[in-house]
This record gives sequence, C-alpha cells and structure tokens, in this order.
Amino acid sequence: MIKEIENREDLKLLVSTFYEKIRADQEIGFFFNETITNWEEHLEKLTDFWEMNIFGTRKFTGNPIVAHNAVDKKFNQQITSNIFGIWLNIWFATIDELFVGENADVLKRRAQKMSTFLFMNIFESRRKV
Ligand code: HEM
Repeated sequence: MIKEIENREDLKLLVSTFYEKIRADQEIGFFFNETITNWEEHLEKLTDFWEMNIFGTRKFTGNPIVAHNAVDKKFNQQITSNIFGIWLNIWFATIDELFVGENADVLKRRAQKMSTFLFMNIFESRRKV
C-alpha cells in the first residue's frame, strides 16, 4: 500500500526494506555485510537519523563523516561516485515502492545532497592518509 511518510514506523519500514536490498546487491552489499555486525542496532540508528531529518527528533548521535571515511579506509579507498550512485538508486526505488508525498521527496533530496557531501569528505580524507 503506497502512502505518505507519517511517523517513525514508516521510516523503520523504509530503512529495513532498503537495507534488505542493499545487502543483496552484488556490487555494494559487501561493504555493509562485512562491516555491520549488529543489524538491529544499525537499523535503529538509521531510523533515528532519518527521523531527525524529517521530524526533527534528536536521538541520532552518530557521525556520518567519520563513519564513511573509516569504511573507505577499511576497503582500501574503493568507494567511488558510482557506488554512491548505486546506493542512491536503491534508496529512490525503495521510497517509490512504498511511499509518496512531500516527506518522500525530502528524503530523496537529503540523500542526494548527503551523498555529494560524504563523497567529498571521503576524497579529502584520502589526502591525509
Ligand atoms: C547518501 C548516501 C548515504 C547516506 C545518507 C548514508 C548514511 C549513513 C549513516 C547516517 C550512517 C550511520 C553513521 C554513524 O554511525 O554515525 C551510515 C553508516 C554506514 N554507511 Fe552509509 N550512507 C550513505 C552511503 C553509503 C555508501 C555508498 C556506503 C558504502 C560504500 C555506506 C556504508 C556505510 C556503512 C558500512 C556504515 C556502517 C559504519 C559502521 O557502523 O562502522 N554508506 N550511513
């Protein structure tokens, strides 16, 4: 059933469905499968992250820049803009599969902006290695 994103439960469904696809992806699944050990915790954390973006809650306490720079280092600087592109395609497809409306659009725009920002930071961090 396609509906608007109205609450945390909706975001939890989006995040869980998204990571099921990510984990099964031939090209980028391994980054996640080889790094994340506690999936329940990861899904909660990402739900907190998107809830902060959409509903302004302040539960999220992570540091995405530090986290992604560390992932890039762990995988010997293998993260390319193409990998971010695959991530974004799966994000967009999952949103469209489940939701419509203003919040759904905001989630797409935020992820798009964030991908540029994270990639620039990864690129920058490589010069300091
Ligand atoms: C726009 C794109 C992306 C967004 C919005 C995003 C968002 C996030 C956020 C909020 C976290 C939690 C950070 C923290 O613990 O403080 C996270 C963790 C993580 N992300 Fe991303 N991410 C994106 C793209 C990617 C890509 C392309 C990869 C893989 C190459 C990736 C791999 C990971 C991994 C492995 C973690 C877990 C890190 C850990 O717990 O050690 N992410 N992501």
